[in-house]
Amino acid sequence: MERSLPWAWYADPDVLRHEGERIFARSWQYAGHSGQIAEGGFFASTAGQIPVVVTRARDGELRAFLNVCRHRGHVVASGSGQRETLQCPYHAWTYGLDGRLRAAPRADREPGFDTGELGLKQIRVDTWGPFVFVNPDLNAAPLADALGDVPAQLAEILDVGALEFRFRTQFELDANWKISCENFLECYHCAVAHPGFSAAVDVSPDMYQLAAHGLVSSQVGPLRQNGSSFLADGEIPRSQFHFLWPNFGLNVFPGHPNLSCGPMLPLGPERTGRFLDYFFAPDVDQEWIDELLAFDNQVGAEDRDLVEGVQRGVRSGILTEGRILSESEQLVAHFQRLCAKALTG
Ligand code: FES
Ligand SMILES: [Fe+2]
Repeated sequence: MERSLPWAWYADPDVLRHEGERIFARSWQYAGHSGQIAEGGFFASTAGQIPVVVTRARDGELRAFLNVCRHRGHVVASGSGQRETLQCPYHAWTYGLDGRLRAAPRADREPGFDTGELGLKQIRVDTWGPFVFVNPDLNAAPLADALGDVPAQLAEILDVGALEFRFRTQFELDANWKISCENFLECYHCAVAHPGFSAAVDVSPDMYQLAAHGLVSSQVGPLRQNGSSFLADGEIPRSQFHFLWPNFGLNVFPGHPNLSCGPMLPLGPERTGRFLDYFFAPDVDQEWIDELLAFDNQVGAEDRDLVEGVQRGVRSGILTEGRILSESEQLVAHFQRLCAKALTG
């Protein structure tokens, strides 16, 4: 068994600030999906707590920017839309979708006002299938390096390019973002806490596979033999759950072609925002989708109780750390090593 990260790291505003600088400012993070800007326009998102905006201008190029006004720092764009420009709601500085500052009221009365140097700060953007990722670090290695063999593994069971976005779910948790990630990264708790899931997927340690490579952690769980579940109704024989450090989770359940994915976003030291984008093959019928969503919501409700319970425990400040099982929780250990390296290395 290994020792866990210090529990103080799960409630401390200073640690969250360091994570902002050393983790979220330097990593590939899921921002949204290409359907949000299929016809041009923009969508706003966040990389950790960093506001970002992804645009597709008339020239067809996908770009991403820090979504912070160069004037006095208001967040510029919110939501999504098809527009030619982004206008800051504070004093109406107006930027093109290429990031250039196009106009600022009263600029003509201001000597030395150089719009040329006050464009939105550009950041990195890249895609994999319909998934759009951003990275505030202009010198980051390519997204493909970060994703490793996840696209190839998924291709064994699913054609990501043929998926269509259907809907997004959103919720918040009273827990540090790392607790939410760690909960995603092990199925040691599945037999205890997820009876419905465990009746469908074989979560026994010999059948449920865990593997970590680089920034990616993967879990593959086959359908339970002789189990009866709507998940057995379809061509995908096993679930795949992938995680891209620091905060992106992706789920494929057995059954018909399905995929849901999204980030664990720090909203504060003890609060996490989540959203999940759900994609399906075009011919998957609504009844099966409804059943999957109900199933997934049940698992999500069970996980909420777990992560919020952990938060109440680790914040108590009496015990300073916990223990990690070397086999069943190897992906948690891997996650914690990456966090520790980023924060202290
Ligand atoms: S802060 Fe954006 S226009 Fe003033
Ligand atoms: Fe869980």
